[in-house]
Amino acid sequence: MFLTRDEEKLLERGDGVSKCMEIVVSLGEIFDADRLIPISSAHVSGVSYQNIGDEGLDWLRSLNVKFKVRTTLNPCGVDLDRWREMGIDESFFKKQMEVLRVFEGMGAELTLTCTPYYIYKPKFGDHIAWSESSAVVYANSVLGAMTNMESGISALASAVIGKTPYYGLHIKENREPSVLVEVKCDFDPSMLGCKVGREVDGIPIFKFKRKLEDFELKLLGAGLASTGNIPLFHVLGQTPEWRDFEIPREKVVFDSFDLKEGCDPDLIVLGCPHLSRDEILRVYQIVKDLGRARREIWLFTSRRVYEDLRDVVSYLEDRGLIFFRDTCIVVSPVRFRCIMTNSGKALTYLPKLRGIDVVYGSFEECVLKAFEL
Ligand code: F3S
Repeated sequence: MFLTRDEEKLLERGDGVSKCMEIVVSLGEIFDADRLIPISSAHVSGVSYQNIGDEGLDWLRSLNVKFKVRTTLNPCGVDLDRWREMGIDESFFKKQMEVLRVFEGMGAELTLTCTPYYIYKPKFGDHIAWSESSAVVYANSVLGAMTNMESGISALASAVIGKTPYYGLHIKENREPSVLVEVKCDFDPSMLGCKVGREVDGIPIFKFKRKLEDFELKLLGAGLASTGNIPLFHVLGQTPEWRDFEIPREKVVFDSFDLKEGCDPDLIVLGCPHLSRDEILRVYQIVKDLGRARREIWLFTSRRVYEDLRDVVSYLEDRGLIFFRDTCIVVSPVRFRCIMTNSGKALTYLPKLRGIDVVYGSFEECVLKAFEL
């Protein structure tokens, strides 16, 4: 891979910047990139102490570096104010705060959300280095920004260098769809994403009977990424790059969905990925005449969205719905027997990573379940 003299010098410093440069260069060599290109932002996952532990914390400290570009952070393991209400113990909270202080020292924005695009939106065609699969697929597909599916470490290294190797989805030709997915039935976007992720290879371009709303595109992408590691999709007539390519000849048709019964939930969860303003307003519309929640329901969102909708959120909290910011159900160390959720990503990861049973419900079903006895 070609490196400029200035880039080569970064490798020779023998400090944390050199380590980051080594990571970026190794990645470029593995994927046969011919050079590095500048990025406008980075989004770093691997923030929860639950995931990185003491080893990760020590590694972060050892770097002693500053970020060169705007860098946002994925959820951590706790709500910074309400961690006791989540049942988190004090030693975990203190360790989590140490991790956040190190990131803050590097210059990260403590956004602590997997939906950084609700705080600022990269522009069409921007080269970025994002980790967090649900954010990557949204940035590529819905915004038309260009990022590979980075790991937390490679996104961090790119944030320090301000550059990423030029390969994969940074190159326009590699963003071409390879399979047309025609959906003829009613569908839930999370479930559809999980199913297509499991059954279809390559970059899909969807044909739907109607236009999808923003939250549906978000949930579709999160499902695709969680079961199929798919970093980009297109939607005919809707997403920003759909006109730029030929329609693929390979075609898959979905005309029905089976949704299996599951366990009886001791917790209902919405907000994986974190809830948008529109989704919180939808919850309000559903519950406004229903009295008080009778089952435990947790809603996860970013601090920014929570603050923007302060009045609506207070109304919902008065009715027994519980909001958490900064964290999420998968990366926090909470314990439950069975969780009901509309999130394909949570349905995929909670049993695998946390040994928690899951049951699917649509957005409305999840909210209404909280008001059943
Ligand atoms: Fe976000 Fe956590 Fe789900 S990071 S996508 S809420 S698993």
